[in-house]
Amino acid sequence: MTYLIYARKYRPKTFEEMIGQKTVVQTLQNAIKNDRVSQAYIFSGMRGIGKTTAARILAKALNCQHGPTPTPCNKCEFCKEVNEDHSVDVIEIDGASNRGIDEVRSLREGVKYRPIHSRHKVIIIDEVHMLTREAFNALLKTLEEPPPHTVFIFATTEFHKVPATITSRCQHFEFKKISQKEIINHLLDITKKENITLSPSGLSLIAEASDGSLRDAQSLLDQAVAFSGEVINDEDLKEILGTIKREILFKFSESILGEKPGDIFSLVENVIEYGYDLRFFYKELIQHFRNLLLVKSVKKAQDLLPLNEEDINDLQEEAEKASHEELLRYLVVLQQGEQGLKFSSHPRIYLEAFLVKLCHFKKIAPLESIMLEIEDIKKGMENPSGTKFTENTIQKETIRQEEEEPEFHNQKMSEDVSKEIVKQSSKKEREIEAALKDPSVQSFMNVFNARVLSIKPIKRGQEKE
Ligand SMILES: Nc1ncnc2c1ncn2[C@@H]1O[C@H](COP(=O)(O)OP(=O)(O)O)[C@@H](O)[C@H]1O
Ligand SMILES: [Mg+2]
Ligand SMILES: [Zn+2]
Repeated sequence: MTYLIYARKYRPKTFEEMIGQKTVVQTLQNAIKNDRVSQAYIFSGMRGIGKTTAARILAKALNCQHGPTPTPCNKCEFCKEVNEDHSVDVIEIDGASNRGIDEVRSLREGVKYRPIHSRHKVIIIDEVHMLTREAFNALLKTLEEPPPHTVFIFATTEFHKVPATITSRCQHFEFKKISQKEIINHLLDITKKENITLSPSGLSLIAEASDGSLRDAQSLLDQAVAFSGEVINDEDLKEILGTIKREILFKFSESILGEKPGDIFSLVENVIEYGYDLRFFYKELIQHFRNLLLVKSVKKAQDLLPLNEEDINDLQEEAEKASHEELLRYLVVLQQGEQGLKFSSHPRIYLEAFLVKLCHFKKIAPLESIMLEIEDIKKGMENPSGTKFTENTIQKETIRQEEEEPEFHNQKMSEDVSKEIVKQSSKKEREIEAALKDPSVQSFMNVFNARVLSIKPIKRGQEKE
C-alpha cells in the first residue's frame, strides 16, 4: 500500500466534510441549488484552509452525473476523475509556475471549446496574484466575455495583489483561519483513525504551531509520526516543533550582526535540511533576538532567562556586537516580518530576502529617525540647556499645558482648535492603548518594568547621552 500524507488522505470530498468556512460553503451550496453559480470566483486567505478543496468540490457539484447538486456523489465517473486528479474538464493551473501570457493564451484557446465530457469546464488558477501583467490582461479579455460553459475559480494568499479589474468581475469569498478548537478536533479524529497516541497537550502544541492552517497541522502530525512512530510523547514533539538548535540561531545572529548577507542562503538551507518548519524557526529567531536585547539591557539576566551561566555568557558576548538600540530595532523589524512570512506562498524566498535585508540594516537609518535627529539638533540650538527628555519633563510639560489652557481661552481661541487638541490627545491615548494590547509589547513592558511615554520611532544615538 502506498503511503498517503494526511493532507491528501483527509482532503474533504464533500462540502459537509469541510471544517469551518461556513458562510462560503452555504453560499456556494445555495448558488448550486438555485442555479445561480457565478462565472468567476476568487477565493482568498492564508495557506491550508480549504481554498483548493472547495474549488474541487464545486467542480464536482457542477459536473456530477446526478447534478448539478450541492452534494456531489463521489461515485460517478465525473466525481471520481476530479478526486483522482485526471479530469480533462477540470483544469488546475499553478499561477506561480505558469505566470506568462502564453499559458493564459492557450487557456483562452482551450475554453473556446465545449467541455469534453461534462457540463462545465472548471478552470482553477492557484496563486493567481503571481501572474504577470500581460497574463492578467489576457485573462481579463476572457472574463469580459466568458464562454457560457466555463467557471473560473481563482485562489490567492495575497488578495491585495490581484488587480481590481479582475476582482471586480469575480464573486469574492474570504476564507478564514481555522480555529484552534477545530484543529484540535480534527487532529483528534485523525489520531483515532490512525491509532496514534498523542496527549491533549501535544494536540494543543501542534494546533498552536500551525496557527490556523489545517494543512500545517496535518503535516506537523505527519512529521511527528515519521519521527516517533505511533506513540508520540510531548518531548519528541517539542523537538520536532523545533526548539531550534541554539547553534543555528547563533549563526544567524552572527551573520546579521556581522553584516554578512552571503551566509544567509546556506543557513536557511540548513534549517530546511534539519526539517524545521520555517515559521517555527522564525519564532525562535525572534526569541533569540529578544534574549540578546534582554542580556544587553538588564544586569541580572539570569533571573529572567531560564538558561545556565554559560548560555548567558554566550548571549552577552553576541550582544556586544551591536548597540542596545540596534538590537531593539532588529527585534521590532523581525516582529513586523512575521505576518508576511505567515501569508507568503514562498516562505523560503521571503525569509531569505528578509534576512539579507536585516544584514544591511546597520547601514540604513530610517528617514523618520533622521528627521527626528535633525529636530533634536534644532531644539538643542533653541534650548542650550539641553533638557533631557525624561518622565519628569513630560510631567512638567503636562502641568504647564494644563496651566496654560485657561489663557488660551482668554485669547478667545476658537472652540474648534480646543476640540482638536482634545481629539489629538485622546488619539495619542488610543494609540498607546492599542500598542499596549500587543502581547510582545506587554511582555517587553513587564520584563523592563517600563511605561509608555509616547509612541514614536526610536531615536538613534540617544542612549549615549
Ligand atoms: N477547511 C478545511 N476543512 C477540511 N480540511 C481542510 C480544510 N482546509 C484545509 N484542509 C486540509 O488541508 C489540505 C490542503 O487544503 P487546501 O484546500 O489545498 O488549502 P489551500 O488551497 O487553502 O491552501 C486538504 O487536503 C485538507 O486535508
Ligand atoms: Mg491551494
Ligand atoms: Zn458524482
